Amino acid sequence: MEILAFGVQADEKPLLEEAFRAEGHHDVRCLDVFLNEDTAPIAAGYETVSTSVNCELSTRVLQKLTTGGTHLVAQRSTGFNNIDLQVAERLGMTVARVLSYSPHSVAEFAWTLAMAVNRRIVRASNRTRDFDFRLDGLMGRDLHGRTAGVLGTGRIGEAFTRIAHGFGMDLLGWDAAENPACVELGMKYVTKERLLAESDLVSLHVPLLPETQHLIDADALRTMKDDAVLVNSSRGGLIDSRALVAELRAGRFTGVGLDVYEAEAGLFFLDKSLEVVDDDTLARLVTFPNVVVTSHQAYYTVDAVGQIIETTVRNVLDYLAGRRSENVLVPAPART
Ligand SMILES: NC(=O)c1ccc[n+]([C@@H]2O[C@H](COP(=O)([O-])OP(=O)(O)OC[C@H]3O[C@@H](n4cnc5c(N)ncnc54)[C@H](O)[C@@H]3O)[C@@H](O)[C@H]2O)c1
Repeated sequence: MEILAFGVQADEKPLLEEAFRAEGHHDVRCLDVFLNEDTAPIAAGYETVSTSVNCELSTRVLQKLTTGGTHLVAQRSTGFNNIDLQVAERLGMTVARVLSYSPHSVAEFAWTLAMAVNRRIVRASNRTRDFDFRLDGLMGRDLHGRTAGVLGTGRIGEAFTRIAHGFGMDLLGWDAAENPACVELGMKYVTKERLLAESDLVSLHVPLLPETQHLIDADALRTMKDDAVLVNSSRGGLIDSRALVAELRAGRFTGVGLDVYEAEAGLFFLDKSLEVVDDDTLARLVTFPNVVVTSHQAYYTVDAVGQIIETTVRNVLDYLAGRRSENVLVPAPART
């Protein structure tokens, strides 16, 4: 069987091809374009399609896939906010994702952003390239003894918390369910408002759901300390970016590290350097000296990508063999 994979990065392509060939003796056609209404017709005739975070699996796209004969969507990520699961179920499609892979990849990257903005690494590096060795404007803050607030203490939040503990930080957590491993590290679970008001570093690790959309809105941003560091390595829609720009314009926050952005689809993972980008919010965000934006690369380690591919292959093989697994979001309809 040949599988069609959308949104494949150049580094990922040989790994994906090799894994499908070795494990399932299947071929995979790798496309760098993302699945959306324009590209959906390419999937005609493919029973199995593999997608990534910035593919758009809306009602119309899913309908086009079904019409073309696609029955399985194998998403190569943990988050699945880009897929309308109810529509997929109604259309009788199976949807699987990668329930978990190295949480350390994302947690370590969140820390990379936190430290980069706190210690002004990008500005310092730019200066030394120009042989400007002054320290003005490069002053950061010790994190030891300060407070880390972790919104979402699941797998990635826990890995982030362990590193915060290593720094000697006090730990505040907010989650629908307490994680005993975080409690054991000394984390105190508090309301979102208290966490935002008391934390020197706030890191987001909840999924994007209707109830977490703009979890960090204008009110939440105003609740935070003026000199806090804010990091988002989860999903862009968790932060109201326009409200964030307004706060940054007012001179607030020691630093903001964003690996995700709410309107990243159509931009992130692509080379837009020769085009006029008409997203004024993103254009403004990247100009602040205390902001670092990266393009959804927190998961991008050889370890995590390897695990994502391994699980995606297993998801396809499970589907073909009629096996259920914890990675399945929408199971195959019962055959009558
Ligand atoms: N930037 C990247 O490259 C990247 C990579 C992987 C995952 N992510 C993001 O990280 C998120 C977290 O991943 P994870 O593996 O830690 O997931 P997880 O399921 O282990 O943890 C999520 C936590 O959020 C909590 N939660 C969910 N909904 C909530 C709500 N409404 N209110 C309060 N708490 C809520 C859950 O109880 C859970 O503890 C993913 O959903 C994904 O969006 C980003």
